[in-house]
Amino acid sequence: MGYGADAAKRHGGVGRIDLRSDTVTHPTPEMRAAMASAEVGDDVFEDDPTVVELEERAADLLGKQAGLFVPSGTMGNLVSLMAHVARGGEVITPAEGHIPNDEAANYAVVVGAGLRPIAETPEGEMPLDAIEEAIQDGSDPHSAITSLVVVENCHAHTFSRPITPAYMKALRGRLAAKKIPIHVDGARLFNAAIALGVPARDLVRDADSASFCLSKGLAAPIGSVVVGSKEFIWTARRARKLLGGGMRQVGILAAAGLVALSDGPEGTVQRLADDHVNARRLAEAMTEMPGVLSPGHIAQPIGERLDPSRVATNFVIFKVEGGVKRRAKFLEQLEKRGVLMVAYPHGQIRAVTHYGIGASEIDATIAATREALRASA
Ligand SMILES: Cc1ncc(COP(=O)(O)O)c(C=O)c1O
Repeated sequence: MGYGADAAKRHGGVGRIDLRSDTVTHPTPEMRAAMASAEVGDDVFEDDPTVVELEERAADLLGKQAGLFVPSGTMGNLVSLMAHVARGGEVITPAEGHIPNDEAANYAVVVGAGLRPIAETPEGEMPLDAIEEAIQDGSDPHSAITSLVVVENCHAHTFSRPITPAYMKALRGRLAAKKIPIHVDGARLFNAAIALGVPARDLVRDADSASFCLSKGLAAPIGSVVVGSKEFIWTARRARKLLGGGMRQVGILAAAGLVALSDGPEGTVQRLADDHVNARRLAEAMTEMPGVLSPGHIAQPIGERLDPSRVATNFVIFKVEGGVKRRAKFLEQLEKRGVLMVAYPHGQIRAVTHYGIGASEIDATIAATREALRASA
């Protein structure tokens, strides 16, 4: 299906109002300034002071012993799997999650792991009983051994809804006796923290490791950070090297991440709240438009009309009447009006708010959506 590469090409990589993803954000002026003046060293020797500072800052924010800067969220998940899972081990993941669907089967190709996908609830949670039922120990020679449980927070395909600390605690309770570790794919962990009004560390307290992306709503140009125990991070560091992800004077990039995580006005964590307000307003306007339907899938399986109360963070997921043919026409008409959204699995469409999308862009998107619906009917 792709994520709108053709549209990006037509726009020279920059849509006028580009709601395909929060990955399209450009760095803030403060980030560019910090990058230009960053102190650097050779990070493979672990002597890039800016990278060290970022890793310590991330570990501190998330209440873990150590951090590791990696180029992408995909690599963050991959090195975590490599550190937790022995060849032939099995990973329990949400069925619609990023790891099983959007990481080119790296769990199989690189880790040599099997997956046990579990259908999520509309809240993005795998039911605890289903997890417990899926667990396999080494007592049966037929079975792979359950080696890791992954939680995605926010869970993208359910309107990027945040997973609560209470769920994490209950999950930990079920797994503790079996000594199965938990990894949080927290690509948008700070969106979850802001939406729930809790410190980000509360969301990963009951996890052994977590990764989060600097390059999505936090607006840094590149990078993710993996956090966990010192021992885990050492193994993940070796895995990063194996994958060719050991970088040199990469403090230039880490500097932008430090700005993102800053407590000062230049930080980009608190501003995520604006994205959530904007997404909700867009959904509220869209629900009134003839031709807009609910996603009809796990994001909102019940009800014909898009329910704006499902929007807890920065994703709006919906369908248009008339199936995928109409969807293609609608997206084309929208693009003609300078707005990009993206086709999403199961016939859905996704619009994501982010840094650079303010109230006036939302007004323009609402108007363009209304017109595109008419023109594609
Ligand atoms: C939930 C989730 N995990 C991981 C990733 C991977 O991040 P990256 O694109 O930086 O590899 C994404 C990217 O969109 C994501 O949405």
